[in-house]
Amino acid sequence: MSDRERILPLEVRGLGLAFGARTALEDVSFVLGAEGLTVVLGANGAGKSVLLRVLHGLLAADRGAILWNGRPPGPPVWRRQAMVFQKPVLLRRSVAANISFALAARGLARGERRRRLEAVLESCALAHLAHLPARRLSGGEQQRVALARALALEPDILFLDEPTASLDPAATRAIEELLLRSRTSGTRIVLVTHDVAQARRLAEDVVFLHGGRVLEHAPAERFFTRPQSEAARAHVEGRLPP
Ligand SMILES: Nc1ncnc2c1ncn2[C@@H]1O[C@H](COP(=O)(O)OP(=O)(O)OP(=O)(O)O)[C@@H](O)[C@H]1O
Ligand SMILES: [Mg+2]
Repeated sequence: MSDRERILPLEVRGLGLAFGARTALEDVSFVLGAEGLTVVLGANGAGKSVLLRVLHGLLAADRGAILWNGRPPGPPVWRRQAMVFQKPVLLRRSVAANISFALAARGLARGERRRRLEAVLESCALAHLAHLPARRLSGGEQQRVALARALALEPDILFLDEPTASLDPAATRAIEELLLRSRTSGTRIVLVTHDVAQARRLAEDVVFLHGGRVLEHAPAERFFTRPQSEAARAHVEGRLPP
């Protein structure tokens, strides 16, 4: 794979994964185009985190196929991806060192590392925190560092698993702004959230998981106004599923 070749679109066909007797994913299929912001919705245990981990190469599926621009997954594909977890996983170092370390791990030269570090500290409003120990920051600030580190990798696709679950409205909006900006500059985004209002603000399309299956994959406008399944309707309205 050449350096310039993109890894999108993504085609997922018939993914299945079980942990013992417990099915986490069942016949999951969808296609994500080259651009956009997809929100993955579903109840606790629906399979959202497992799906993200499989797509990011952290977990192997039992069945099915994943094609990145027609190619199977592997290190060249994974190097073009980044992921942000619900709880930021930061090193016991400064904010700047956390970001530089991730860039060095990708094998980038010193000059390029410095260019990207400065750009991302600026765009994520972290310049004034750059030299502080990352783990001493507030939860919202730490999550901004985790996102900055992911964005510094300039991924083709960015996965986020409930990145704002424990943040206040202002910190949540700051993260959302950054996501919208990077989406506009061409980063493909796949976001798992429990916050339906956030999903309405951000989603261009919605993948709705229920019991490990994709019950719906629809443009956001259609999903939120006319969900096709009772489970999705209940989820959107904040009711208990049937
Ligand atoms: N490492 C694991 N070992 C065993 N079972 C697992 C493992 N990871 C996930 N599961 C199971 O797979 C199913 C899907 O889990 P997953 O974490 O993807 O749910 P989720 O949709 O992310 O839920 P939540 O909204 O609570 O985060 C659950 O039944 C879960 O218990
Ligand atoms: Mg989860």
